[in-house]
Amino acid sequence: MTPEKDDGFAVLKRYIEQTLKIQCSNYKEDYIKRRLLSRMRSTGTSAYDEYLRYLREHPPELENLRNALTINVTEFFRDADVYDLLRKEVFPALFKGRKTLRIWCAGCSTGEEPYSLAMILSEINAADKTLSGQIFATDIDEVVLKKAKDGIYSEKAMGKLSEARIHRHFTRLPDGTYQVKPHLQSIIRFRPHDLMSGQPTSRFLDMISCRNVTIYFTEKQKDELAKTFHSALVPGGYYVMGKTEYLGREVEGLFTPFNSIQKIYRKKE
Ligand SMILES: C[S@@+](CC[C@H](N)C(=O)[O-])C[C@H]1O[C@@H](n2cnc3c(N)ncnc32)[C@H](O)[C@@H]1O
Repeated sequence: MTPEKDDGFAVLKRYIEQTLKIQCSNYKEDYIKRRLLSRMRSTGTSAYDEYLRYLREHPPELENLRNALTINVTEFFRDADVYDLLRKEVFPALFKGRKTLRIWCAGCSTGEEPYSLAMILSEINAADKTLSGQIFATDIDEVVLKKAKDGIYSEKAMGKLSEARIHRHFTRLPDGTYQVKPHLQSIIRFRPHDLMSGQPTSRFLDMISCRNVTIYFTEKQKDELAKTFHSALVPGGYYVMGKTEYLGREVEGLFTPFNSIQKIYRKKE
């Protein structure tokens, strides 16, 4: 099913911007349309204006739409080889220059990514008490942030974690879910932040991990974001992207590849 005409798309976009505070024009139009289409399918509506009417008459649909627009798929140690490289090369290189790392995990969804980084940092700290890290984890979606802060995961979500890591970093709750232990939670500060705002959440950062977030952004927004990250990193700081993401032409010169297969870049000195 496709909407028969584009009638009402602009009006619907404005409504979404005002009520959900999501700036649709910063995302690829095709992406917004695909997400809307999936909600239209679920609500049995077939044109944008009809869906807008439905939204107005069924306020709970707003939350469904927010979830559809901010896809939150994530997992612990997503792309294990990237984390191997961080553990074996990036963190040791950074720790040569300082004892405490400042890391921004941008677009952290339900927390699996920052907790994966925190596990590595905590394991480094167990081997050498003088080394530690602090992670600022942000997302635009406060619903996923709440889940991230709670740090409770289903057995299925634990899939990629070794028994040793589960034992070390999680407590099994009576209902069969797993809760992150306080030593990991204390490494991370979760807060809401819109990556389109042009403002970094912090500065003097040693590493920014922003993975699988910009795939939905326009080229212009991607470039703006890379400039924001560049300004927030220390010279030589690392920018970790998702495997399918890339640096735009306009900003390529700001970074040098550290590992172009794993999409890890460094801010030029
Ligand atoms: C597919 S998830 C990626 C999660 C994690 N980084 C990973 O790689 O597994 C994308 C996340 O980006 C967030 N996001 C989308 N647009 C955003 C924006 N403008 N500012 C901050 N976060 C945003 C979504 O809410 C979602 O949680």
